[in-house]
Formats: sequence, C-alpha cells, structure tokens
Amino acid sequence: MSIHYNEQKKLFKLDAAGVSYIFKIYQDGFLAHLYYGAYIPDDNLPDFERRPVYASFSAQPDTVEPYSFSPDTCPMEIGCNGGADMRIASVQIRNADGNAVTEMRYVSHKIYAGKPGLPGLPALYANTREECETLELTMRDAVTGAECVLLYTVFEKHPAITRSMIIRNASSKTMEIERAMSFSMDMNRCDYDLITLYGRHVQEREFERRPLGHGTQGVGSRRGSSSHAQNPFMALISRGGGEDFGEAYGFNLVYSCNFKAEVEVDYNNSARVIMGINYDDFGWKLAPGEAFYTPEAVLVYSNEGLGGMSRAFHRLYNDNLVRGEWKHKKRPLLVNNWEGTGMEFDDDKLYAIAKWAKETGIEMFVMDDGWFGRRDDDTSSLGDWYVNETKLKGGVGSLVRRVKALGLKFGIWYEPEMISPDSDLYRAHPDWAIHVPNRANSVGRQQYVIDMSRQDVRDYLFERISDVLGHNDIDYLKWDFNRNITEAGSALLPANRQKEFYHRFILGTYELMDRITTAYPHLLMEGCSGGGGRYDPGMLYYSPQIWCSDNTDALSRVDIQFGSSLCYPASVQGAHVSASSRASYETKRNVAMWGSFGYELDPAKISEEARAEIKAQIADYHKYYDLIHYGDLYRLISPWEDPYNCAWEFVDEEKTQALATYLIKFKKERRGLFLRLKGLDPAKYYRWEETGEVFSGALLMNAGISLFCMPNEDGYSKTFYFKEV
Ligand code: GLA
Repeated sequence: MSIHYNEQKKLFKLDAAGVSYIFKIYQDGFLAHLYYGAYIPDDNLPDFERRPVYASFSAQPDTVEPYSFSPDTCPMEIGCNGGADMRIASVQIRNADGNAVTEMRYVSHKIYAGKPGLPGLPALYANTREECETLELTMRDAVTGAECVLLYTVFEKHPAITRSMIIRNASSKTMEIERAMSFSMDMNRCDYDLITLYGRHVQEREFERRPLGHGTQGVGSRRGSSSHAQNPFMALISRGGGEDFGEAYGFNLVYSCNFKAEVEVDYNNSARVIMGINYDDFGWKLAPGEAFYTPEAVLVYSNEGLGGMSRAFHRLYNDNLVRGEWKHKKRPLLVNNWEGTGMEFDDDKLYAIAKWAKETGIEMFVMDDGWFGRRDDDTSSLGDWYVNETKLKGGVGSLVRRVKALGLKFGIWYEPEMISPDSDLYRAHPDWAIHVPNRANSVGRQQYVIDMSRQDVRDYLFERISDVLGHNDIDYLKWDFNRNITEAGSALLPANRQKEFYHRFILGTYELMDRITTAYPHLLMEGCSGGGGRYDPGMLYYSPQIWCSDNTDALSRVDIQFGSSLCYPASVQGAHVSASSRASYETKRNVAMWGSFGYELDPAKISEEARAEIKAQIADYHKYYDLIHYGDLYRLISPWEDPYNCAWEFVDEEKTQALATYLIKFKKERRGLFLRLKGLDPAKYYRWEETGEVFSGALLMNAGISLFCMPNEDGYSKTFYFKEV
C-alpha cells in the first residue's frame, strides 16, 4: 500500500492491496486519468502519450497547445460542467454571475498516513494510521474561486480505494452547488457489463446485468432513502466475466438518501463512472469560506470475478466500516415478536415468548412495533414515544426486568423518523412533519415523515429515546423507516434553500444515530426500512446489522441474500426463521444461518414438533457462527444463473473448514448431480462430518460431492460440513 507522487512525470500512483490507480497533472493543470486495475510495477507505467488526444468537435481550452488536447477526449479525474468536457459532469457550481461553468485545475496536494473522517457523514475508518494512506488534492476554478479537494484513501489489506470530495468557496460571493458527486472516473475501455441491484419491498436487491451501451446508463433513488428500488451499488465486469473470472469493479456509496450512480460511454469508447448524491432537485448554497463534504464512495477491484469482488467488500466492511463493541462481539441469537403477534400483545404474551426463548436457548427477546402511544394498528401514534401502559402494565421497565430475570437480553423497536397524523406529537407540532406550503401531504402506511433537518425535532427524539434507554437495561434497538419521502420541504429552511432538504434530512438522521450510539455504546442497533429499504454502508456505520427483508419465506428470501452478498457481508444481514409455510424448518434455518440469525414467530402458534426442531437448531448456530460471520463466501450456484437450484459456501481464512448449503428452490427433473466446492486448499484433506469420509480439497473442488442420493423436492436443502483432518 502506498501513494507516490513522481515530481518529474507529475504522476500520482496509488497502490492498494493488489491494485493500482494512476493519474497525472497534464497540460494547464488538468488531471488526466491513466489507469485503474490490477497492480502495475512502478518501473513500467502506462504510456499516456500514446493515446488519442484530440477529436474534431471536441473543444479545447485556449490555454493549451492547439490540437494537442481536449478534456472531452482525455480520460479525466474530475468531470467539470460547462467547459470543453462535454461528458456527464461530477461537479457543477452555479456562480454569482448565474452561469454554471466550472473548470478545475490542479493547485496542490498532500499525502499522509491514516484516513480522515468526514464531518457529519458516515465513512470507512482506519484502525491504525499505518493501514491506510490518504491523498488530498486541491483544485481551483480560477474564475469563480470554487475549490474541489479530491480525497483518496488506499488500504493495506484490501483491494479498495475510497473517494470523496470537498467543495470550498474561496471567493467573496455565495455560490450554489448543483452537482457534487463523490467521484468521477474515466475508464479507457467500455467492454464491460453493468450489474445493479433493483427491487421493491419484500423483493430487495435482485441481480441485474446488462451490457454497457453508448450513452448514459445507471440507477438512482429519489425516495429520500437509498431505497428498496435500487441499491447504491454498481459493478462493472468484463464481458464474458463471471463469478470466478474476469475483471470486476465494484462501487458502493456510503450514503442512505437520494443517490445517483451512472456510467456514460462516449464516442471514444471510454466509460465515465460517477456516483454520489442525486443531482436531481439538489442544490446547496455555499457562502464564502464554507465547505461542503460529499459522501464517500468505496471502489473495489478484483480480477477474480464477482466472487473476488464480493469477498473483498466483505472483508473491508467487517474491518473498516462496522464499528463499536459489536464489531467483533458475538451477536445474540434473538426472537422478535413481529411476525408472531403483530401489534396485538400485552406484557404477559411477550413474556411467554421470552420464557419459551430462554428454554429454547435463544439469547435475546426483541419487542417490535406497538408498545407506545395508542398503537394497535398502523393508523396512529408514531412520534408518541411514551409506553402504552394498558399493554405493558408497569411500563417498559417492568417487562425489561421480567425478561432480564430469565437471563435474556432485551431489544426494542423504534421508528424515530416518522410521525402519525393521528398522534399527540403531530397535533402539537404539525410543522414537524415534512411538508410544503399549501399542499396536502401524501400518506404512506398512514404516516408522515418527521423533519430530521430540525434540531428541535432531533432533541425531542433523543430525549424520548433516552428516557427509555437511560432508565432501562436495554441491549438492542431496531431502527425502522417505513415509507419514502414525498412533498419534501422543511418549515425552517428559506425558499432558496429548499433544495438542500433531502441531504439535510439524512445528515439529521446520522446526527441522531451518532448521538445515540455515543450515549449508549453497549447498544446493538439493527437498521431496518420495511425490511431492506435502507440497506447501505451509511447505515452500517451506525448499525452493525440490518434487517434484510420483510420476506421471510426461505425460497424467495434466498435470492435477496444472494443479491445482497454482492457487497454486504453475512455478518451485517439480519436473517430470521419465521412460521412461513413454504419450506421446512430445516430449510428455513439453512437459509437464515447466512446472516445474523434469529427467530420471528409466536411459539404458541406453531406445533410442538416445530418447537422441538427449533431447539435442536440452536447448537448449529453457535457451531458455525464464526465461519459464517467472518469466513469467505463462495456463491456456488447463484439464482441468476440457475432459477431452480442454488448453493453457497463459507470457508474460513485458513481453509481448514467449509460449510456448503445446497437448496432446491423448484424441482427440475434433470439437475446437476455433483456440487463442486470452491476456495479449499487442493492439497489438504477434509473429513465430511456426516459420513466420516475423507476427501482432498482437489477432489471436492474439481469432481465435487455427489448429490445423487438426495431427494429432488421443491424446498429441499442440505448442509455439508467439512473439516481438515
Ligand atoms: C417494518 C419492519 C418489520 C416490522 C414492522 C413493524 O415493516 O420491516 O420488521 O418491524 O415494520 O411495523
């Protein structure tokens, strides 16, 4: 890992583990991008001068040698709006004269050990100063005085580079940022396929692959959250590449609100990638001396296909994103009452679930929605975060004490960013709901969204949540967000700053999450948004796990888990066994073990056999915990390759054990009869626990294990555990 600047060639070379990223200061201070991909030795660098530098109809600044260079045809490190670079811009700033021409030239740079934080924003962090190195490069627009500081951090142990940008107003006049993407990067070729993760509620993160075409393509969100509809993730894989081979570039934005991720292929067959805050309906006034920080983007490279890219993301996020006490601590096996009881419960009913949980070997009871205000259904009470003493006699405290006396941990549900029209809070503060003047609010799930950009709102929420967390021994908080934002506006922002609203909203949410995790460092937070509607690295900075989906039917849930695994590790994925009927308890367990495992049911509503089966499952959860949470994932058969069968495998870092799971989603008369494992040491020998047979890693990976005697039934699944002899 290192960042070098070659003064003579004016060239920057950034090396992360196995990766090089190279650019140079070119004519007139423009930054020309040279290369990003597998590591290239320092003594043998790409030859920048032997590339097309000029094309007809591509303009050039009057300061450069005629016909020598155009920012339109040259791969650039930043895409500026309005000048000679006609491609999709990453920076657009409207100046006091009313135009939005922005042209950035190199001014200075510094290179230092470690990684800076981004004020008010989640970001990856360095555990030690030595494991990261950072380049801060300042550019300036000579006409307007706007400055862009490009931030790059490389990682010693990971093939990863993080990028973000600071925009500073070094002039004496206010300007307005119209576009501030976290990065822009021009690739010298375009023979890639674009992979994105689309979805909806109960069907999140479906895999989609399409060839790059000329023009602009991409995904985004305008929903006020990263959203179910598109994840802030994008990958480019070389044509013909797949799970195990090909060049894969992964891009993931550490942000939980409106985003845009786009690729433009131009007439030179080069591809510009940009990612950041969605520029639709975005604006930010920047007064003289002020700075604006973009969210951070994570760039991961692998020449071992999508599998290599995913494993790199997983290790990086486990090491450098998830924080706090629960980063390494074993997460408690939980039962949540939501699917079992909905909001129809009282303290005795919840206590009965907790009692069963204790007898079964479960470690934490989580009380979901319905414990506050007059909340018996979704028509009321969000915002009235006062306990409903008709349901919980003696308050939250009494139930917490009873559950704790059993020896269980206790968790609670909140949806802080919401306000019900039918709530005391809304009646007292109608202005606290997000709204615009003279226009009725749309409702979603019978609720409005609260204005998190307001300090008074955040103070109220902190005080209400603290009243419960501060007086009771609570271990876990599920933070939900159950609708998207419409009629976006804040009563406190002046008319000419309303475009700042969405970003201010999420900054407010981050601030409250930060206050809570700082005040209660032992608390385990689980993010949620109608399942996985805000399943992004921004949320993972505060909540080390996120409820993956409200879909707990193992046979469709597995697709969601495969999609999520493109960049999110198993450790962050909330995954529960519910009473859903399509699959056996064994299959439900096998699927839910791929994550932070738990149960989501009312034991009184399931059979005695089911209860006995659950009891028998607990030991395996403990046995495989480390392997699944910290091991390497191999997607053996993915749903996007085979709609009938799927299989996945975890291998520990030392390659001493492996757990493979095979699942028949839909029976097909002819199926593959051997399952080939991956990631083992071919020279090692492994014992199959079930039969005691010993196989070499070479045999398991090349010939595979026979599935011949397995039943061929819809929903059948089986795990295979191998340990080195
Ligand atoms: C969302 C969550 C569920 C549950 C309900 C409660 O849908 O995803 O797990 O908490 O809200 O209203």
